[in-house]
Amino acid sequence: MLLAACAKNAPQDTLRPASPDTRSIDSLFWLTFWVAVVVFVLVEGLILFALIRHRDKGEGVEPVQTHGNARLELGWTIAPALVLFMLAFPTVGTIWKLARSRPNPIKVTVTGHQFWWEYRYEGLGVVTANELHLPIKRNVELTLKSVDVIHSFWVPRLFGKHDVEPGRVSRINASADRPGVYLGQCVEFCGLSHANMRLRAIAQTSDDFAAWVESQRQAPATPAAGSDAEAGFNLFQTKGCSGCHTVDGVSKGMIGPNLTHVLSRTSFAGSLLEMSPENLRRWLRDPPKVKPGSKMPNLGLSDADITQLIAYLETLK
Ligand code: CUA
Repeated sequence: MLLAACAKNAPQDTLRPASPDTRSIDSLFWLTFWVAVVVFVLVEGLILFALIRHRDKGEGVEPVQTHGNARLELGWTIAPALVLFMLAFPTVGTIWKLARSRPNPIKVTVTGHQFWWEYRYEGLGVVTANELHLPIKRNVELTLKSVDVIHSFWVPRLFGKHDVEPGRVSRINASADRPGVYLGQCVEFCGLSHANMRLRAIAQTSDDFAAWVESQRQAPATPAAGSDAEAGFNLFQTKGCSGCHTVDGVSKGMIGPNLTHVLSRTSFAGSLLEMSPENLRRWLRDPPKVKPGSKMPNLGLSDADITQLIAYLETLK
């Protein structure tokens, strides 16, 4: 923990809030922290005082033994109750403020899968994975669902963590002050690759966000006849990829991430790997080796198959 506290510029630092919501949480944290510091210093000070004042001075006399002191006991019962009571007001107030519905939000359904996140932008016709795009200074309403086990969704600099439970739908607010990439992580143990279930929130200006939405709505290009990409397109349909993945107009698989614009993302495999031909090759060779417990099996692809599949994936921008 000491080493972690020494990290400079830690990307998942809860103490560097980047949204109005996380600033509220941060203020509440510091208020509680300083109240706790005062209590700590007071209690430890009294203990030290008593230890020193009433230490054995070698006089061999048994000190006066006292049992019960109604005034003191009432005092140390009522004082902490008052402190907790006073802290309850800002705490409950913050919880209500964070939970309140906000006007005119962009609605995104977030679905937890072992071990990646799916995002559906309601009304915008966009489905993507792992990288949550959001326009800055806009209300974003996230509806959280899980298709398998309990996950927990958290981008520490943008919003508080929230469990994502199968059979239960919950809702949280998200927002960001400034453009940037904010890292997140599944924070509920959900299986072998829990630690590999990461995410990125990409906050953009409203123009950049609109341009991203527009590009995500485009139909994928058809690979040129006779190209490696076309051979990869055929492999995509014969090797089983299309059974699990959606590519608009090509396949409707729902087990894995939607790949219609996979190459527009900066990372893949639960944001574990940066998007690059080398990493795609490593992944396609043996997914469960890279990400233990991955539902994507080793398809036994040859190097030539992988080259062609990557050529096809590179058309999905
Ligand atoms: Cu999903 Cu841990």
